[in-house]
Amino acid sequence: MLRIRAVRDDAEDLARTLAWANDPDVITHSFSRTGELTGDEHAKWFKERVKLGSWWILEETEPMAPLGQIRVDWEPIPGFEPEAGVISLMVDQQHRGRGLGRYMLRSLSDHFDSREDARYLVGLIKLGNSRSVRLFDGCGYAIVASPGLIIAVKQVGGKSGRHQAKA
Ligand SMILES: CC(C)(COP(=O)(O)OP(=O)(O)OC[C@H]1O[C@@H](n2cnc3c(N)ncnc32)[C@H](O)[C@@H]1OP(=O)(O)O)[C@@H](O)C(=O)NCCC(=O)NCCS
Repeated sequence: MLRIRAVRDDAEDLARTLAWANDPDVITHSFSRTGELTGDEHAKWFKERVKLGSWWILEETEPMAPLGQIRVDWEPIPGFEPEAGVISLMVDQQHRGRGLGRYMLRSLSDHFDSREDARYLVGLIKLGNSRSVRLFDGCGYAIVASPGLIIAVKQVGGKSGRHQAKA
């Protein structure tokens, strides 16, 4: 069975997320770095980030196997004021092409769609990452070409028609 759960502040999730952060495809498609993270660099960032929530792991429960992760960072992004949820996701190399990226992205949209406040979720995609473009497109995101990158955007929530504080 597939399960999405919050990342836990423990040694197992620390090690797993470090291994995933150093996946060669993740580095290639990252805007923030060009090389591997050391354990110390990751541990410092992990401790801070896990406290903020909005970071989940997809796993198979029987037998237990970690499959991928998805995270939302709320940031000021021009054009999507006051802020947008920037999505980072990856699927473990051994499990790509099975629809798991789509499963995580749809689950994320459903999660925020049930909220009363309207928000933008965005994917910032490097040129050439056609797999990600197909993924976001297939999940109902508008694909917008921008200088040097591709932006995938979707508005979620907003059932009450008024803006509320973020979770
Ligand atoms: C991008 C990523 C998350 C996609 O996850 P995934 O589980 O492999 O993707 P899915 O199986 O759900 O497929 C999603 C779409 O990609 C397409 N796809 C899958 N494998 C592909 C490949 N090798 N080349 C091109 N498209 C491919 C699928 O056909 C599907 O599109 P469709 O709905 O039109 O058929 C995964 O490849 C990954 O972790 N990449 C490295 C990190 C990364 O790039 N993260 C995103 C940064 S924005």
